[in-house]
Amino acid sequence: MTMPSEFHSQPLSTILLLLVLLSTASHMILEAVASEQDEQQPITLPGCPDKCGNISIPYPFGMKPGCFREGFQVTCNDSFYPHRAYLAYDGVFQRINEIYFRAQKGLCQRNRVWNRTREDTALELIDISVAKGEARAYAAISSRCSANHTDSLSKSLRMRLGEKMSPFVVSVTRNVLIGVGWRVQPKMNSYLWSALASDAVSAHGYSSNELTISCLSYLMRMPQFLKFATNGSCSGRGCCRAALPEAVALTRFALWISFDEPNTLFVTNPCSYAMVVESTWYNFTTPDMYGYEEIPKKFPRGVPLVIDFSIRNGSCPEKGQHPPPDYACVSGNSSCSNATSGLGYVCKCWDHYDGNPYIANGCQDIDECKLRDLYPCSSDGICKNTLGGYACPCKSGMKGDGVKGTCTHIFPQAARTILGATSGIFLVAVLSFLIFLRKEKRKMKEFYEKNGGRTLEKAKFIKLFEKEKLKSILKSSNFIGKGGFGEVYKGLLDNEQVAVKKPITGSVLENEQFANEVIIQSQIIHKNIVRLVGCCLEVDAPILVYEFLCNGSLDDILHDSRKVPLNLGVRLSIAAESADGLVYMHSKTSTKILHGDVKPANILLDDKFVPKISDFGISRLIARDIQHTGSIIGDMSYMDPIYLQTGLLTEKSDVYSFGVVILELISRKKATHSDGGSLVNNFLEAYKKEKKATPLFDEEIAVTEDLEILDSLACIAVECLNLDVDQRPWMTDVAERLIILDRSRKSQFTLHVPV
Ligand SMILES: *[C@@H]1O[C@H](CO)[C@@H](O)[C@H](O)[C@H]1NC(C)=O
Ligand SMILES: *[C@@H]1O[C@H](CO)[C@@H](O)[C@H](O)[C@H]1NC(C)=O
Ligand SMILES: *[C@@H]1O[C@H](CO)[C@@H](O)[C@H](O)[C@H]1NC(C)=O
Ligand SMILES: *[C@@H]1O[C@H](CO)[C@@H](O)[C@H](O)[C@H]1NC(C)=O
Ligand SMILES: *[C@@H]1O[C@H](CO)[C@@H](O)[C@H](O)[C@H]1NC(C)=O
Ligand SMILES: *[C@@H]1O[C@H](CO)[C@@H](O)[C@H](O)[C@H]1NC(C)=O
Ligand SMILES: *[C@@H]1O[C@H](CO)[C@@H](O)[C@H](O)[C@H]1NC(C)=O
Ligand SMILES: *[C@@H]1O[C@H](CO)[C@@H](O)[C@H](O)[C@H]1NC(C)=O
Ligand SMILES: *[C@@H]1O[C@H](CO)[C@@H](O)[C@H](O)[C@H]1NC(C)=O
Repeated sequence: MTMPSEFHSQPLSTILLLLVLLSTASHMILEAVASEQDEQQPITLPGCPDKCGNISIPYPFGMKPGCFREGFQVTCNDSFYPHRAYLAYDGVFQRINEIYFRAQKGLCQRNRVWNRTREDTALELIDISVAKGEARAYAAISSRCSANHTDSLSKSLRMRLGEKMSPFVVSVTRNVLIGVGWRVQPKMNSYLWSALASDAVSAHGYSSNELTISCLSYLMRMPQFLKFATNGSCSGRGCCRAALPEAVALTRFALWISFDEPNTLFVTNPCSYAMVVESTWYNFTTPDMYGYEEIPKKFPRGVPLVIDFSIRNGSCPEKGQHPPPDYACVSGNSSCSNATSGLGYVCKCWDHYDGNPYIANGCQDIDECKLRDLYPCSSDGICKNTLGGYACPCKSGMKGDGVKGTCTHIFPQAARTILGATSGIFLVAVLSFLIFLRKEKRKMKEFYEKNGGRTLEKAKFIKLFEKEKLKSILKSSNFIGKGGFGEVYKGLLDNEQVAVKKPITGSVLENEQFANEVIIQSQIIHKNIVRLVGCCLEVDAPILVYEFLCNGSLDDILHDSRKVPLNLGVRLSIAAESADGLVYMHSKTSTKILHGDVKPANILLDDKFVPKISDFGISRLIARDIQHTGSIIGDMSYMDPIYLQTGLLTEKSDVYSFGVVILELISRKKATHSDGGSLVNNFLEAYKKEKKATPLFDEEIAVTEDLEILDSLACIAVECLNLDVDQRPWMTDVAERLIILDRSRKSQFTLHVPV
């Protein structure tokens, strides 16, 4: 009985084997043809070289005459191995300016010793991608290094990708500004061309403007602070980053590190760096903060800068229109789209096509079945490539979608299984939702306890709000601002106007400490200190509720473009009363409270312009804890240099900051550092020279009969700014003198007040 079947199976299996072999062979041949096609798929015009070293140079880029589109020439330097490719378009280069500074004895100033401009260098290409419409090139790193106490060398970078019709612009989405160092504020000045619709627009529809962006990294070089700098995190401690300005075309920028610190920091602060670099490229590691020229040494050719390119002259043809004679998207299977980063257009292969859209027959169908990672097709499906796509139907006996991986057998019991599974899933979903709700509740309770809820329950003055109650306030229509602490919202709680401060989450607080601070704050009732109404502890980082002050901050009032008139009387009483608030805090016997970030933005004004100091204690406790951005650590322009050096916050640090506030009040100028030096420096210089600072007084108040009072104010400020801490007055002295000035001025003008 077995004979016939064996007899039959013999030839059958042979045939099968043959068939299998044949199909495999044909498959191999096909694959060989395909891979040969892949290799031969041209990326340049016929007869043009397509590589410089190991870098592919696809058209419109090219090296030989006739091989590139205008603007896209690349030069290949064969004195290196592998050869190096450079952008050759006129006006594309980078330049390094070096300035050597030496400190003047006894002063906080530096003198230039020499300037040197390094030769302009061409941009070296790292790679080119026509699919993404971008190239990457090496950009130099800006740095500032100090050799010793007195000498330091600054290297700043000027990058140019040509003028406004250049094919190249800096990608604002793919690059970021990065600063690395103990105390560094890198600045990037961008020259933007934007296609703004205005009369001043030039012939090409562009208008130009300049914009400076910066970030701040700050870390004290003391053991207890070092833990804040963490590998891989660039959040203001040792490393900071900022997004580039949104712009239509960024063709030029300057990159430097501002010089505004006392010399004493030089020794502990050997080098700082700034770079504009591909956003995913730089990984901060703590060793980068030590050593001399550490990062440039690691990357001697520079760091990758992403450059967008596009065809500037011309635009995509309208539907049904003939393309212009020099139209660049010549391949079939390709399309044209407006450049996102400037005038002009870029060419793209259609979806599911790949290659170079800038050359004839450049875009070819992708065989998706070979790229299962990118184009999924489950193992229960049969992958079939089609022109402009692929299909992945399920194997026979199954139904569903192989692309989504949902192939299933078509059997009755399978159907039951599916039903079972579905209801199972439903049950699981319901259950997990319930568990989620419980967890949420438990979490709220945990937060409550972590944030010191138990301790706070005993406090008399503080209201503890439930999360639900604040929810209606924390919405975007109530948003009034953002500070170092977090976001601030305005709202109505128990018929009282309040400002609700929601910290940036991610804070890990020491609960008891927080609770204690809240208790202390809630007990402070002083007319010049913003009152803490309550808080909400049921969230990760506690939300604080303060009284609301309708006139905003002193910073807004002083520097708002509307320039509300502010007479000397108002300014004097703002100064005197804020000082009084500070004195009250400094002199609390049980627990002296320091502010640490006194500045006009933290002095709020009520409807009668009575100042109230905000952001004491707790906010700072939280702000210090959130290792978030540089802006949180406090504003450098107001910070006591001695505090910056020693890290020790004292009452005298607040006195220094208050001195800066007085300067702002009498000059109505921002203390923020600008290139030409800070308000404080200008002021101290003027004062040193002439014992007067009259030219810096705000014109609105610098009337002859008030000059004497202004001089007295200036004198108080100068004393507050003394770098010798012991020579600085105490806050009580400052307040006392201000109150006397305030009274004497009032008596001058109000006759019925006894002199
Ligand atoms: C070219 O070669 C260098 C080293 O020889 C390598 O670092 C680089 O990644 C290569 N570039 C490309 C595009 O393959
Ligand atoms: C190639 O680079 C070397 C070294 O930087 C330089 O001296 C030479 O002039 C370059 N050659 C060309 C053709 O640019
Ligand atoms: C350096 O350049 C600046 C202007 O850029 C100039 O004022 C200064 O005199 C120069 N210093 C030296 C030493 O050449
Ligand atoms: C600082 O270093 C420079 C050279 O790096 C040297 O010329 C100068 O004398 C040094 N200054 C001091 C005070 O050591
Ligand atoms: C930074 O890390 C990412 C992934 O963690 C890696 O791809 C990248 O190459 C790293 N960059 C540098 C400069 O080491
Ligand atoms: C960060 O990584 C470097 C090695 O890349 C290591 O030497 C250093 O100790 C690390 N720093 C921290 C704070 O873990
Ligand atoms: C683009 O520029 C080339 C060369 O400058 C010029 O010949 C051509 O007419 C321009 N095309 C358009 C559409 O402006
Ligand atoms: C592309 O740009 C041209 C002119 O620059 C404009 O007329 C056209 O509307 C733009 N197309 C799209 C889709 O934005
Ligand atoms: C479009 O793609 C198909 C499939 O790869 C190819 O055969 C055809 O030549 C392409 N058409 C053009 C005009 O490039």
